[in-house]
Amino acid sequence: MICLSLTERRLEDNLEVAKAQADHADCCELRADFLEPEELASLDRFPRLLGKPCILTLRRRCDGGLFDGTDAERAAIFRRCARSGFRWFDFELDFRAELPVRTGAETGPEKGPRIIRSHHNTTGMDSDLTAIARYLSENENEIPKIAVTPRSTAELFALLDLAAELGSRLKTREKILLGMGEWGFPTRVLPLRFGSSVSYCTAGPVRAAPGHVPPKELDLLYRVRAQSGGTRVYGIIGNPVMHSRSPFIHNAGFAELGLDAVYVPFLTDDPALFLDRAEELGVEGLSVTVPHKRAVISRLDGSGPGVEKVGACNTVVRGDGGWTGYNYDVAGFLEPLKRIWESTGRKHRKAVVLGAGGAARAAAYALVTEGLEVIVLNRTLEKARALARDIGCRAARLDDEGIDEARSYTELVVQTTSAGMHPREELDPFAPYDFTGDETVYEIIYAPRETRLVRRAEKAGCRVIYGEEMLLEQAYLQFEKFIGRSYPREDLPKYDRILQRLV
Ligand code: ATR
Repeated sequence: MICLSLTERRLEDNLEVAKAQADHADCCELRADFLEPEELASLDRFPRLLGKPCILTLRRRCDGGLFDGTDAERAAIFRRCARSGFRWFDFELDFRAELPVRTGAETGPEKGPRIIRSHHNTTGMDSDLTAIARYLSENENEIPKIAVTPRSTAELFALLDLAAELGSRLKTREKILLGMGEWGFPTRVLPLRFGSSVSYCTAGPVRAAPGHVPPKELDLLYRVRAQSGGTRVYGIIGNPVMHSRSPFIHNAGFAELGLDAVYVPFLTDDPALFLDRAEELGVEGLSVTVPHKRAVISRLDGSGPGVEKVGACNTVVRGDGGWTGYNYDVAGFLEPLKRIWESTGRKHRKAVVLGAGGAARAAAYALVTEGLEVIVLNRTLEKARALARDIGCRAARLDDEGIDEARSYTELVVQTTSAGMHPREELDPFAPYDFTGDETVYEIIYAPRETRLVRRAEKAGCRVIYGEEMLLEQAYLQFEKFIGRSYPREDLPKYDRILQRLV
């Protein structure tokens, strides 16, 4: 179930929000601790007006909420609402309220609410979570809920261990287990894998808890409600990772092909541990991004062409023999160029590559493999030299002198540095060079779409390849590797427009 947390200050506004999101949520949680105090007097009317199953929550400040009153005041509010049609009451571990109705496993307007027995930790993970879980689940009429804040890959998997433990003890009993914040995001997108019956979200700008996303995102992008026990799981590991556009691209492809599969952003600080345990989450394949593209290689059981030479891997796939790594940055980079070579009937012979990081290595390797002569220009000369030695090309410093040295190579200029990328949009790493209009300029940055360097190139009349093209091409290749079917590329613009509007 997708549960929409309502965090407006007035009941009327909460009803508006719930109405606008009605198609994307199965139930609501009224966060009464967010309400203006005078609104509390009319709480009991809310479930009837809402017309959806509703949880009543009055979270204290110490548990991450806004309620400042005493426990006696809280108990009085719950007592008053016991017969008003709330399907569940959320009570923390240590909270007791004598209610004028019997609470049992059965709920309904006439039977009174069921208790969700919850424990929250908004700053970390408790060391005694197993004991807490046991305590929470003592009363079998209650639904145990644990919401904690993992801060590493190890802690995310500790939550998975807890889910397994709860699963074996509570069997089919409903339970709620979630990780707050970015590290815990997979628990929101893969609730079934964590044995959780509910994934919470918020629609408005005031998030009920860290890591909440809008209900449309859970419903349409991650298709949480359509997932089954057999949903195939893919994703991206990186740090940071939540800005990635890959979930939009891959999930749109899965949706279009009607596949029971989902692609999840996994914030990761330990790629080896992640690969060791990924199978427990059902993960079959992953994109790998900064800063793990190099580190992940030592954990591979096999690798495709280019991985060793480039020293970077951006895709891993789990098979019978373990993990195999690929570098689709190389092929993805070449795709748009090959289209130009085909349409013009002319291949570039020489190229300048700006930068000497991981992206530069993939680009230089791709170009040299295609038979081009390449010069790499980098701010730090040593890195350019190391790249040139590994790949077999020339190197110079990215300064006036180096640019002069590279002049005979500028029929193709490939920009791979991070200079000009959001939020440093004012930077232009090739500023001393005046474009003539004869150059093909390949910018790898895709946010923003037009960097300062690209705007100069366009103005001079150059042919420009935008970063988005490489991003999409490598994603299409990954997609095909993941599921063995081609990406429905003609449908992407439609989905991308719809999905981009969600965030
Ligand atoms: P990636 O793996 O995405 O290529 P990286 O390995 O961090 O990222 O490499 C970043 C590249 O951008 C490097 O070539 C870096 O130059 P240095 O090796 O001198 O650090 C380059 N870069 C970053 N900021 C730059 C700037 N302001 N001007 C020029 N080059 C810059």
